[in-house]
Amino acid sequence: MKNRAVGRPGPRAEGTVLPRTSMSYARRAFLTLSSAAALVFAGGRSFAQTPATQSTSSELSPDERARDTEQRMTDDERFSLIISLIGAVPSIGVPRDRRIPEGVNMSAGYTPGIPRLGIPAIQSSDASMGVTNPGYRPDDKGATAFPASIVVGSSFNPQLAREGGAAIGREARIRGFNVQLAGGINLARDPRNGRNFEYYSEDPYHSAVLAAEAVNGIQGEGVISTLKHYTLNCNETNRHWLDAIIDPDAHRESDLLAFQIAIERAQPGSIMSGYNKINGEYASGNQHLLNDVLKGAWGYKGYVMSDWGAVPEWEYALKGLDQESGIQLDVKQWGAEAFTDRLRGAHAAGKLPKERLSDMVRRILRSAYAVGIDKWGPAPTVDMARHNAIALDIARQGIVLLKNDGVLPLAADRPLKIGVIGGYAQLGVPTGTGSGAVLPAGGYAGSVNIGGAHGAMGAARNLYLLPSSPLAELKKLLPQAEIEFDGGYTPPESALLARRSDVVIAFGIRVEGEAFDLPDLSLPWGQDAVIDVVATANPNTIVILETGNPVSMPWRDKVKAIVQAWYPGQAGGQAIAEVLTGRVNPSGRLPITFPENLAQTPRAELPGIETPWGTPTTIRYDEGAEVGYRWYVQKNHKPIYVFGHGLSYTSFSYGDLKVGGGETIAASFTVTNTGKVAGADVPQLYLTDAPGERRVRLLGFERVELAPGASRTVTISADPRLLARFDGSANQWRITEGTHVVAVGKSAGDLVLTGSANLTGRMFGK
Ligand code: BGC
Repeated sequence: MKNRAVGRPGPRAEGTVLPRTSMSYARRAFLTLSSAAALVFAGGRSFAQTPATQSTSSELSPDERARDTEQRMTDDERFSLIISLIGAVPSIGVPRDRRIPEGVNMSAGYTPGIPRLGIPAIQSSDASMGVTNPGYRPDDKGATAFPASIVVGSSFNPQLAREGGAAIGREARIRGFNVQLAGGINLARDPRNGRNFEYYSEDPYHSAVLAAEAVNGIQGEGVISTLKHYTLNCNETNRHWLDAIIDPDAHRESDLLAFQIAIERAQPGSIMSGYNKINGEYASGNQHLLNDVLKGAWGYKGYVMSDWGAVPEWEYALKGLDQESGIQLDVKQWGAEAFTDRLRGAHAAGKLPKERLSDMVRRILRSAYAVGIDKWGPAPTVDMARHNAIALDIARQGIVLLKNDGVLPLAADRPLKIGVIGGYAQLGVPTGTGSGAVLPAGGYAGSVNIGGAHGAMGAARNLYLLPSSPLAELKKLLPQAEIEFDGGYTPPESALLARRSDVVIAFGIRVEGEAFDLPDLSLPWGQDAVIDVVATANPNTIVILETGNPVSMPWRDKVKAIVQAWYPGQAGGQAIAEVLTGRVNPSGRLPITFPENLAQTPRAELPGIETPWGTPTTIRYDEGAEVGYRWYVQKNHKPIYVFGHGLSYTSFSYGDLKVGGGETIAASFTVTNTGKVAGADVPQLYLTDAPGERRVRLLGFERVELAPGASRTVTISADPRLLARFDGSANQWRITEGTHVVAVGKSAGDLVLTGSANLTGRMFGK
């Protein structure tokens, strides 16, 4: 078999990874698909359809089908499946690759199909906050810009995560994208991490439950979803040169447990490996984490794709990586593609066993068949109004009321003079920047390039404003109020408006995103100073934070209310106005703890933050499994607001706690709405003490909607791994015989009822 030079495309290179005989057929099929997809953007609805499968073996299991198809493939076809090409992105200097046939709808990843075997082209797109388009498709009219994953995390509502995922899956489908690079599940270990907004929380169980439902939603629409970034990609600083050090057993109890539970609940078609090293080995070539843990201990059957520009060596194929993503970025990053010429050379020289190449291919095919990307019927009808309503619901349920000294909801019975200050509230709400940023239908309300010395992504660091203006929405909901706006440009100017207002609503925003961490917890552009002066001028100051992470709030004792709105998506302005006016009773809960300062966190200094991009950096995650609230409780620190915290306009009481033991903890208790308005509560069950040690673990939670006076019984049976320690010497989980103390709380720091039960000592699982 002649190796084709996919690494050096010549003038006739389009589709060269396919054997010559099938090339014209394949190109015709691609053109058909992409012209169908183009109709979508003309008509707003799509009838895009993949070529129907030609396989006659659909009654077989996905494993059997994958094996059967793979056996019928040529080596050229096998090699064609294990790479993807990134589409042209002018903003980060990626030109159009000639191996992508004309007419293909550009996205993050393109892998040619094999029509003679009914294998569709694989096209991947980002991701968790909607279908992104960082310049790939000039004619795409825009997608629903959903709230950030941390907002979904704040909702503590798995069903809503699923609805959001399904909507994203549908919007991917109409564009012909059959893989969504969603499911960001890295734990928020550090409040400076630029990408925490793309993740769900600091807790493994909570992250897994929410992410799994988002993935289930996407895959339910026939679109493969990833879970990413496997693993410990918890800081962006020098991410390609970052060695994340952790105790292996603690890793199993934290970040890896999040992946393990989410994989069990959602069977994601693919796992995306991270950029960083873990304990000295790059994530994409980490024998222990890929072969031993993911595919070995957990028996994961899908495929591992790399992150874009994360594969320096072809040998990663031997260590568990199945597909090299965005191969042109490996040329930029490492000087060469790994899984094209070099891997073919290794194969020809007998260094890549035939069996392993087959396994890589079978895993990709298995996921394709299990999720059904080869069996798409007519594309779903996408109802953008309905998707906007889902985005709105997520924002409504994810906005967290952190503090309220009686000023909220805003009085509706008298015409208030309201001063709205800062945050570009006259235009919209900010969103995170990087590969996850979604261009909304109709475009951004504003976009400012900030830039930065963070490699290629620095140039793409932007303040993006989604067109949902909190100011306009407030005016709609409070027609009698006199509302004035000040841009928050200087403290003295803002103070003028504050002094002549009855109530001030001050916004604090921050641009967070991919490839950079924040050096501290402050608000940029002097906003802390503006808020401070405004709060001094007017005691009725309410602060709305639109950030992807905790901030330090030096002014917090001076203000009457604080609302954490995160990056609330394209309907975020409306949701904020509804919460402020009481149309919506806030029910979001913090999925990440707000420390008083960086000294309370596991790393006061962030290694590498002061070095230029590209400096080898080591971060020791010595907190191990004691991430987030677990750390603060262990260390007796008093954070400002702890995991699980969130206020409501009503009140709830808990009672009748019953705790059973044995194999695991099973608890039941009642929740009662003791206030005057309907609302939703999120009672949480924690382990607080295990035999011989203080050990805090979220065991379960449930979002409960209650009318005034109504009660409900909540029952939670804990995943036994949350009660166990991982014993690396036995490669099993171990529960210590004895009394385990649990508590029902309003947050990890506000425990209301306690109980205990005896658990049987045992080793189990892997
Ligand atoms: C990000 C991934 C993303 C990929 C493709 C990378 O820079 O880390 O999360 O899926 O780009 O756009």
